[in-house]
Amino acid sequence: MENIPIFRTPDEMRAWSHEKHNQGKVIGCVPTMGALHEGHLSLIRACAKDCGETIVTIFVNPIQFAPDEDFEKYPRNEKEDLSLAFGAGATAAYCPSVATMYGGDPSVFVIEEKMTKCLDGLSRPNHFRGVLTVVAKLFNATNPDRAYFGLKDYQQILLIKQMVHDLDFPVEITGCPIIREPDGLAMSSRNRYLLSAERKDALCLSKAIDAVTKMFNNGERQTRNLEWLARTIIESASTSKIDYISTRDAEDLSPVKDIEKPTLFALAIYIGTTRLIDNTVLTPVKEEQ
Ligand code: PAF
Repeated sequence: MENIPIFRTPDEMRAWSHEKHNQGKVIGCVPTMGALHEGHLSLIRACAKDCGETIVTIFVNPIQFAPDEDFEKYPRNEKEDLSLAFGAGATAAYCPSVATMYGGDPSVFVIEEKMTKCLDGLSRPNHFRGVLTVVAKLFNATNPDRAYFGLKDYQQILLIKQMVHDLDFPVEITGCPIIREPDGLAMSSRNRYLLSAERKDALCLSKAIDAVTKMFNNGERQTRNLEWLARTIIESASTSKIDYISTRDAEDLSPVKDIEKPTLFALAIYIGTTRLIDNTVLTPVKEEQ
């Protein structure tokens, strides 16, 4: 592990990637904000399986947090994260400081104007401007051929794919499945904020997803009935507060009333003061001809 390089500036990072590309290597990138858990490690493993080099980036991105959000308290432990990342197959890390990333009073940002008008884009204004801007900068520094993101942040992946398409980044984006705790809670760096009673209440998210999936598999196609079921389950947890429960086209996030094609069922809730998200894609099985 001592020989695994850790880069702090885009120039150093780019020089390394350039050298690896010259050696004919395929470079993969796994962007993270640290506080790595099994979900991140599954991305790193997927990347290492597909690519000759795997760069993990660790950067808690201030511009994707609103002033009242958890930027200050977001867990940071670079040493532990690096050891987990390298253990899972990373071959380099990019860990710039905030000053390196945003020094010099920047005034250019990446903004998407359609799919950010719903879900987290509405609840967290400017969040995706921060995400897309930092991902663009991380791609420019790491110069990857492929990049891996978790499907728990479903809207984020769609937006990154759109950015890559619209701005001609030569990067192939792969979405990897949501990784869950044994009891069903989707893994998230924010789960560590939950107090023990809240941790139990947080299960209402995966329970809602399971119940909705079952109702859908039993033939229900009207999204208001699916949303009603999820609402009932979430509201039965005493520390929960719903931000949104929403059913949207899985490709472009337009609202859906009756499910006829793959459809995203997405939830964002507060458990106490911790905001958690989860989702599933409901896919109707085509009738055999
Ligand atoms: O999903 C995350 O951890 C972050 O939004 C990302 C993509 C690393 C950008 O800061």
